[in-house]
Amino acid sequence: MQRIKLLAMASVLTVALSVSVSAGNADLVKEGEKIFNTKKIGNCLACHAVNGKKINNPGNLGPKLQGLSAWPEQALYDKVYDPYATNPISAMPPFGKNGVLDDHQIKAVVAYLKTIN
Ligand code: HEC
Repeated sequence: MQRIKLLAMASVLTVALSVSVSAGNADLVKEGEKIFNTKKIGNCLACHAVNGKKINNPGNLGPKLQGLSAWPEQALYDKVYDPYATNPISAMPPFGKNGVLDDHQIKAVVAYLKTIN
């Protein structure tokens, strides 16, 4: 009897945990999207259109972003942190290295980038 109660409790806990993790992720995606589209913060839209998303008047100095859901999170983080690490002649500013975005903000942007197919 005791065992069954414990098992029931454990499964309730697991469900609660996974719900709160995905809700947290949705918030992070929203935050990242805002950073992406806000001139005074990330201003990513100044150079990038985004496949499948309506972006208000995007610039085209950078490529249209697509297929990013397939990139590992770390690769996206590194790209935003410092594009020169993988592309020494990149025209993209190093948002992490130059301190424009902090660690949390880059993680939020990465969560948003992971939603781009
Ligand atoms: C001044 C223009 C500019 C801004 C602002 C800019 N980028 Fe870029 N971005 C580029 C250019 C140019 C490239 C292509 C060269 C390269 O990969 O480094 C690029 C490449 C990328 C790539 C790789 C795309 C691919 O398919 O290889 C990602 C991801 C990316 N940018 C995300 C961002 C995010 C997120 C922001 C905002 C935090 C941002 N960029 C802001 C110019 C910009």
